[in-house]
Amino acid sequence: MEELLHIEDLRTYFFTGQGAVKAVDGVDLFVNTSQTIGLVGESGCGKSMTALSILGLVPSPPGKIVSGKILFEGRDLLSLDKTEILGIRGNRISMVFQEPMTSLNPVFTVGEQVAEVYRYHTDLSKRESRRRAVDILNQVGIPSPERRFHDYPHQLSGGMRQRVMIAMALSLSPRLLIADEPTTALDVTIQAQILELIDSLRKEHSMSMILITHDLGVVSEVAERLFVMYAGTIVEASPVKEIFDTPLHPYTQGLLRALPAYESGGKTLYTIPGSVPRLSEIPAGCRFSPRCPRVMEICKREEPPMFNQGAASLVKCWLFR
Ligand SMILES: Nc1ncnc2c1ncn2[C@@H]1O[C@H](COP(=O)(O)OP(=O)(O)O)[C@@H](O)[C@H]1O
Ligand SMILES: [Mg+2]
Repeated sequence: MEELLHIEDLRTYFFTGQGAVKAVDGVDLFVNTSQTIGLVGESGCGKSMTALSILGLVPSPPGKIVSGKILFEGRDLLSLDKTEILGIRGNRISMVFQEPMTSLNPVFTVGEQVAEVYRYHTDLSKRESRRRAVDILNQVGIPSPERRFHDYPHQLSGGMRQRVMIAMALSLSPRLLIADEPTTALDVTIQAQILELIDSLRKEHSMSMILITHDLGVVSEVAERLFVMYAGTIVEASPVKEIFDTPLHPYTQGLLRALPAYESGGKTLYTIPGSVPRLSEIPAGCRFSPRCPRVMEICKREEPPMFNQGAASLVKCWLFR
């Protein structure tokens, strides 16, 4: 198994009037070639900032990557200059965001926007770029792509707009696709279709994927391994099957219990007590300790390291010391 992306101890902070907001605070994550991993955790835990850090898109100031390594195809992305990063972004690594309306430009037709990706990143002629655009719009399942080419974003449904975004992200056959809540803004019926589409295109292009979501149900079908994030750090990384069979971290256990249908036939019976800490005031020791049903003395004092557990799991919890 070849490693495509390897993130080590990534820290991305926002420097605000109220001190440092530790949006990403020690993330370790790895993705193999052709593998899909899920990055899951409650809203505000730092998932999008992890993704934006990989792409060099952290809004700066106030944001800044303060430490860590992001090795992609063996090169540390954090040591590249702006032009080198631009060559990788969109080309080798691309991203699909949650809300396609804000990422598409309202004043250009969707076809022109897809064609522009080819114009910007390749030497293709205008005519050839348009031909490729129609072709990829067809691949993502947009009916009559020659005609739809001339539509403006607002003329398409949410699902169709997300297909256009996927077309743009895949146009240059990246090695890694980062999909950040790609279906969250869509109707439930469309969600499954879009996810299936992304996954089948991923296989076809033998890409790797980081699927980011707050919804554990969404990733279970497509991801091989899950990275569970809590308050800026990864607390558990395990194969999907093991997360569902024997979740290790008390936070992962809470997330699963809060999932409709997991233990209650569709009704959510459980919510994790307490609330996510503000990332400018991360608790001492284990950051989950104030909410943890199995908290011990040491948890309040010392932050646990990642412990290996079984053949393939990692867990940041003193119970596994
Ligand atoms: N521009 C900003 N200024 C200050 N803090 C920010 C800014 N953008 C994001 N954050 C902080 O980063 C944290 C993580 O955000 P994000 O990565 O978007 O979370 P997620 O994608 O998991 O919902 C947020 O909780 C917020 O406190
Ligand atoms: Mg997000």
